[in-house]
Amino acid sequence: MDRPPAPAAIREPSSPELPRHVGIIMDGNGRWARRRHLPRVAGHRAGVRTIRPVMEACHEAGVHILTLYAFSTENWSRPRHEVAALMQLFGETIDSEVGEMHAEGIQIRAIGDRSKLSPRLQEKVRAAEERTSGNTRAILNVAINYGGRNEIVAAVRDLAERGVDLTTLSPTMLSQALYTTGLPDPDLIIRTAGEMRISNFMLWQAAYSEIYVTETLWPDFGAAAIEGALAAYARRDRRFGAVSEPPPLVEGALRAPASL
Ligand code: FPP
Repeated sequence: MDRPPAPAAIREPSSPELPRHVGIIMDGNGRWARRRHLPRVAGHRAGVRTIRPVMEACHEAGVHILTLYAFSTENWSRPRHEVAALMQLFGETIDSEVGEMHAEGIQIRAIGDRSKLSPRLQEKVRAAEERTSGNTRAILNVAINYGGRNEIVAAVRDLAERGVDLTTLSPTMLSQALYTTGLPDPDLIIRTAGEMRISNFMLWQAAYSEIYVTETLWPDFGAAAIEGALAAYARRDRRFGAVSEPPPLVEGALRAPASL
């Protein structure tokens, strides 16, 4: 399992009501293009243009760790020309964006099985990670050829190969073997374009994530939309399986005897 460089130590958000880590399932590029009678790839290109304002708005709001789901392990089954166009777009985006992101102090990390990418793209990814590895202002994880199930299986295989006794496997050990080791789990997962599913994104890490689904298509998502998602998150009552307040006393309900 090829891993990205260790994540930088990133400062905490400016308020406890903000998520430390936001994951985004960027959906709706195809629908955006279809509504304009454009080819699907025009939607993906428009989707790339959304990334910078969203990242900047997150940062301004005080959120410094962002993970974008760019290409899933299932996306290979799209038409060949669309897959090729997406791969080309990833390479072009690295070429055009990394310099500025580096200047802004953003650490770029790719999560997913990069071994299936072309050697040229793998090299671009590696170089972008290496160039930005010392940055500490914010982290941008790009999930590319990423699938939550594959990540968990690869992590367990890795542990087995390293001779770890799997009969002693604990949640902490598994967490530390994932691509996201060293990062907090995403507090908030945003999905654009309205589908109510998680689509193999951060299955392990999403155990207690708040989910926010918006009808807005990814190319139309922007600073105001992310601010809306962060405001909705701030209103959520996160209980992590516990209760936030004692249950009301109900007359006649079981009570502990007074002597206890
Ligand atoms: C889903 O929309 C979107 C994708 C599978 C690709 C997302 C990729 C980008 C926005 C480019 C990101 C690039 C970098 C470098 C991070 P869809 O095509 O499934 O839309 P639809 O459901 O409306 O058809």
